[in-house]
Amino acid sequence: MDSPAHPNLANLTVIGDLHRWWRPADAAFLELTRPDLSLFVGDLGDEDVEMVRSIAALPVPKVVMLGNHDAWQSFGRRTCTEKLTESLHILGEDHLAYAVREVPAAGISVVGARPFSWGGQSLRSPELYDEIYGVHTMRQSAAAIFDAARNAHHRDIVILAHNGPLGLGDQPEDIFGKDFGKPGGDWGDRDLALAIQRIEGLGLRVRAVIAGHMHHRLAHPRGAERTRFVRRGETLFVNAAYVPRVVRTPAGELSHFVRMWWAGGDCERIEEVWVDIHGNIADVEEVRAVELDEPAPIVDETSE
Ligand SMILES: [Fe+2]
Ligand SMILES: [Fe+2]
Repeated sequence: MDSPAHPNLANLTVIGDLHRWWRPADAAFLELTRPDLSLFVGDLGDEDVEMVRSIAALPVPKVVMLGNHDAWQSFGRRTCTEKLTESLHILGEDHLAYAVREVPAAGISVVGARPFSWGGQSLRSPELYDEIYGVHTMRQSAAAIFDAARNAHHRDIVILAHNGPLGLGDQPEDIFGKDFGKPGGDWGDRDLALAIQRIEGLGLRVRAVIAGHMHHRLAHPRGAERTRFVRRGETLFVNAAYVPRVVRTPAGELSHFVRMWWAGGDCERIEEVWVDIHGNIADVEEVRAVELDEPAPIVDETSE
């Protein structure tokens, strides 16, 4: 069994977009290392109830933010399918959409943003959001994230989202930059950027935003890799979408995790961890986030 690498720090382990790449060894790794919280950023499968069931059954503390792929047919039909209804039922309170989970060991509250995000300026199906959450504009969604944060017990906040916020760059290789179609443009979520602005306005500190969705390997320029870790002021932005998250190497088949070590509301260390088919760590690399000098752009409070 792995002993805790940093016994005095709390362990938050992040699992990027699965797209069905989930092995028994990955479950074993979480059971062996016992994170204080495991955070799944979504895209488990394409409305794949069995994938949802296997994540929900993990006997570890966890939260999930379902992605656009997890509601794929529902967006097509603009209404919640039976499969999505069942997925939400199976996950229950572990689906952190517009909700909060306390992690006292880390000194933080985890606030869930909008689920199913496709990125960009559109909600894709306001009907679907209205049906499930009573939200049908970006502004209402920002208000729902903000309301969740107001219930947080800690001043130090970690946000879990499927896609990251607007305002972190418009180049294809930027952390949430658009690399497909006509490449270029900021593909971040406006509701999330607005919610962060309002949460900080309340005097809370957003210490990290954990998301995925924008896969690490770019469509344009083909094969290039995007920036996955950025720090702006006191906020760390993590894009955990290393896809596919299982890779073949000379050392065998390894899977990707991001591990963050926390104490008293501070993230002391971030690592990318590669896990072998026995659930043991094959490689750990400490992450150095790219520092952004410009302050966050002000988000228009009045636009829908
Ligand atoms: Fe994805
Ligand atoms: Fe996605």
